[in-house]
Amino acid sequence: MNRTDRPVIVALDFDTLDGALALADRLDPATCRVKVGKELFTRAGPAAVRALGTRGFEVFLDLKFHDIPNTVAGACRAAADLGCWMVNVHAGGGRAMMTAAAAALAGQAGRPLLIAVTVLTSLDDLALGEVGVDATAGDQVVRLATLAESCGLDGVVCSPLEIAPLRGCLDPGFTLVTPGVRPAGAAQDDQVRIATPGSAIAAGASYLVVGRPVTRAADPAAAVLAIDAECREARRA
Ligand code: C5P
Repeated sequence: MNRTDRPVIVALDFDTLDGALALADRLDPATCRVKVGKELFTRAGPAAVRALGTRGFEVFLDLKFHDIPNTVAGACRAAADLGCWMVNVHAGGGRAMMTAAAAALAGQAGRPLLIAVTVLTSLDDLALGEVGVDATAGDQVVRLATLAESCGLDGVVCSPLEIAPLRGCLDPGFTLVTPGVRPAGAAQDDQVRIATPGSAIAAGASYLVVGRPVTRAADPAAAVLAIDAECREARRA
């Protein structure tokens, strides 16, 4: 199974680069990676990725590319040139798009991991039906993850509840990146389907995306270490 020594990816969901860097400066790149999403990237651009890289952080660029194959391939190349460690696309863009994205990165030394988003966790079966998808969300996740794997992607983003079904049908080396993680006793915030770090790792998650439980902690570095320790414990069990 795909295991990693540093499973924690801290979501830097900030609306200023100064805010993101102030938080990053309280973290240790030896214990976690960071995620730059659409809000921070739209405000601060590639400078955000470069500034984090300069500080020694590996960056997951979470822009969920979804466009025609040529455009997504170019965007993935740009992310690689920026030095990103992980980048993602929407599996709903289809086989040609994902294959072009994988081909754009293939053979590059130190290329980013290429991850697919399957079904957004904000969509339920009703919402999927409204956009013409008759499958349940669970079935659609498995369908799109299987497609992503066959297109040569490295993994998918999935909710804690999807880890077990995906581990049941995908290659053990396939990377599963899981948000919706809350240490026991932490605020649930607006997340609905949550899991503790230990249970997500025990189910087979490769990386955990954790935002507010770290970014709003009095001591963010200690929060990362506590989550990391829980993950190690789950792997030993
Ligand atoms: O603060 P919190 O831990 O809830 O942040 C989770 C991060 O993971 C956010 O950046 C959010 O956008 C992202 N995410 C998610 N659920 C998904 C996909 C991404 O929470 N299905």
